[in-house]
Amino acid sequence: MTTFRIEPSHNARPADEREVILANPGFGRHFTDHMVSVLFDRDQGWHDPAVVPYGPITLDPATNFIHYGQAIFEGMKAYKHADGHIRTFRPMKNAERFRSSARRLAMPEIPAELFIESLVQLAAIDGDWVPADPEKSLYLRPFMFSTEVGLGVKPADAYQYLLIASPAGAYFPRGVAPVSVWLTPDYVRAAVGGTGEAKCAGNYAASLIAQAEASLHGCDQVVWLDAKEHEWVEEMGGMNLFFVFGTGDSARLVTPPLSGSLLPGVTRDSILIMARQDLGIPVAEEPISVDQWKRGAQSGEISEVFACGTAAVITPVGEVKSAQGAWTVADGGAGPITMRLRNALLGVQNGQDPDKHAWMFELA
Ligand SMILES: Cc1ncc(COP(=O)(O)O)c(C=O)c1O
Repeated sequence: MTTFRIEPSHNARPADEREVILANPGFGRHFTDHMVSVLFDRDQGWHDPAVVPYGPITLDPATNFIHYGQAIFEGMKAYKHADGHIRTFRPMKNAERFRSSARRLAMPEIPAELFIESLVQLAAIDGDWVPADPEKSLYLRPFMFSTEVGLGVKPADAYQYLLIASPAGAYFPRGVAPVSVWLTPDYVRAAVGGTGEAKCAGNYAASLIAQAEASLHGCDQVVWLDAKEHEWVEEMGGMNLFFVFGTGDSARLVTPPLSGSLLPGVTRDSILIMARQDLGIPVAEEPISVDQWKRGAQSGEISEVFACGTAAVITPVGEVKSAQGAWTVADGGAGPITMRLRNALLGVQNGQDPDKHAWMFELA
């Protein structure tokens, strides 16, 4: 096992200050007292693993990633369970996705064991930052960027991996209140062969203008359509999408297939497994067109639509606006299958339900 150098912070927040933050953490606003750093260069490979005080990093203005964007990240959550242990959800999936994002951006792949050990190290030193409230969590943000200095366009020779953490309340402040979505006709998130499958910084920069367009149309979120025909539904903002066809015992779940331009969500994968194996709901990965969505919602064949991802877990989609008109999914509220899946997933994550699939990984 890798030995990490530990440099404790001299400015760690006192317990009372921390508790005030944990009472109302918001999302991504506050950070714990430490961070983990691991360096890479072509000669030494991965080296200098360290737990250091959270704080600014100094960069040469010619640092490669600022210009050419070799930067990837992950997002996961740690929960404090009633037995006092800190656990996270399926971290090997994030470790694998981080490696695959790195491959796509011609960056070095951090070994999964080192990635996991970085989470363990941060939980060991900043474990008091994991809220005990089952509605809250500690959001973990591993990321990596190139650090080589120089303006040549090429894969850099040096990189830094960092892990920071931020206590999190609800991602969408209105909780499970359904979101309204705008199907953008003007922008695409990703094309097959591009970087849509990678969790790289540039994908998010490219998404912001479409999110602003969604706001202009009075919608909470943007929904991405395929790059070629602008017809097939792909994702919603930073979340994957599910459609419920039918109701009650005849309900079945459909999600767009991983066509090469979607981010393969860990939550998406978990919902497919849970629905099929635990809840007996048939699932399918099938393309869904805008027209099918509109007609299905209008006829009642599509009874629920929801988005899923680590940050907000499961969020119902109520209203849709598009170049082809506007429609509402059922009564625009949170449907029963959406809520069943949401409760089932949250129950495992916050430790209140049995972990049948051994998805929870003990960090501390
Ligand atoms: C574009 C995009 N799609 C989907 C997801 C959902 O992935 P996960 O369930 O692994 O959080 C995310 C968040 O990571 C995302 O950024």
